[in-house]
Amino acid sequence: MLKGKKIILGITGSIAAYKIPLLVRQLIKAGAAVKVIMTPAATDFVSKLTLSTLSKSPVLIDLFNEQSWANHVQLGRWADAMLIAPLSCNTLSKMAVGQCDNLLLATYLSATCPVIAAPAMDEDMWHHPSAKKNVQLISSYGCRIIPVAYGELASGLIGDGRMAEPEEIVQYLFDFFSTNQSLKNKKALVTAGPTYEAIDPVRFISNHSTGKMGYALAGELAARGADVTLISGPVAITPGSNINLIPVTTAQEMYEACMQYSDTYDIAIMAAAVADYTPVNPEPQKIKKAVNGIQLELKKTADILASFGKIKRTGQLLIGFALETNNEKEFAQKKLEEKNADVIVLNSLKNKGAGFGHNTNKITVFDKRGREKEFETKHKNEVAKDIVDIITELL
Ligand code: CTP
Repeated sequence: MLKGKKIILGITGSIAAYKIPLLVRQLIKAGAAVKVIMTPAATDFVSKLTLSTLSKSPVLIDLFNEQSWANHVQLGRWADAMLIAPLSCNTLSKMAVGQCDNLLLATYLSATCPVIAAPAMDEDMWHHPSAKKNVQLISSYGCRIIPVAYGELASGLIGDGRMAEPEEIVQYLFDFFSTNQSLKNKKALVTAGPTYEAIDPVRFISNHSTGKMGYALAGELAARGADVTLISGPVAITPGSNINLIPVTTAQEMYEACMQYSDTYDIAIMAAAVADYTPVNPEPQKIKKAVNGIQLELKKTADILASFGKIKRTGQLLIGFALETNNEKEFAQKKLEEKNADVIVLNSLKNKGAGFGHNTNKITVFDKRGREKEFETKHKNEVAKDIVDIITELL
C-alpha cells in the first residue's frame, strides 16, 4: 500500500532518531519514495550518510547554502505525506507558533500534503501543560499525531513519551493511505470563496468569504483519492497541486464553469458564498461622486446549487451550505428541500468561531433522510473530514 507513495521524513533532535534508519529501510522496502530532511540538532543523533544511503536520496538540512536554496514549497507539494519522526519538544513548540528557522519547519509550514508526527520526549516534558497545549494546537492545524508509547525512556525512567516503534509508524502510514483512498475514481466538484459583482471598473459587491472551508473540503476529498475540480472566486489561498483549480470572478462565471461539470460529477459541494444579486448595468467608466447619492439596480444571479438540484441524476450527491443568522434550522431544512440537495451544512453566525474568515467552524449537518448531526467547534480541516466522512457514508 505504500508502493509509489512519496514521503518527506523530517527528523528532529531526539535520541529516538537512532531508530530512524530502520524506519527508512522499512519504508523503502514497502515501496515508498523517501526524502529526508533533518534539523541541525538531529545530525548529532544519526548520520546523514546512513540516511542518504538507505533513502537513496540526498539528505536535506539547510534552507540554503552558498550556491542554492532548498525549495521547501516544491518539497511539500511533491509529497503525499510529510512524516516528522521523532518530533522533539523543541520542534513541536516551533510548529505550534509557526516559527521557521530551519528547512524542516519551512517545509512543514508550506506543506499542502497531510502531516503526521510521532512525538518523542521524556515523560515530564510530554506531560508538561505547554507540550499538551502545543500538541492540541498542531492537531487543530490538521497535523495527525501517532501516539507516544509507555516504556523505558532515555532518562532511565519508565513512563509515557517513547516514540512509536518504526513498525508501528509504517503500519500507521499503511492504514492512513488505505482509508484515504475511499474516494478513488470519484469525481468531485467544489465551489469556494466569494464572487465579485462589478458596479464599475473599480468597485464591486461581494462578501467576507475567504474560501478556507471550500479549500479544506477540496483538500480532504483529494486526500481520499477523489479527482477534484475546485471552482473558486477570488481568494488569497492556493490549493494543493493535486487539485484542478478553475478561478472565476463573478457569479455568472461560477455558474457557467460549474455547468460544464453538472453531468460528470459524483460529489458536488457548493461551499462558495455566491452573490445573490448583481448590478443590472455595470458602468463602463468609473462612477463619479453624485451630489445626493446614487441608486443601484440589482438583478438576481443564477442559483448554482438549485440549478444542480433540478438536473441531479441518481447516484450524484449534492451538498450545499447554509449560512444563517436566525431561524437557522428552519432555513437550513428549507434549503435542503427547495434546492433538492442531499445534505445541507449549516453554519450559524451566532456561534463563536464559525463562518467567514475563522480557521474554525461549527456545523450542523442535515441530510435527506431527515437526520441531523451537530458537531463541536473545530479547525476547518477537521470539519472537512467530518463532512467528507458523511459523504462517504452516503455514497
Ligand atoms: N448558492 C449557489 N448559488 C447562488 C447562491 C447560493 O450555489 N447564487 C449556494 C451556496 O453555495 C450554498 C447554498 O446555495 O451552498 C446556500 O447559500 P446561502 O447564501 O446560504 O443561501 P441563499 O440561497 O443565497 O439564500 P439566502 O441568502 O436568502 O439565505
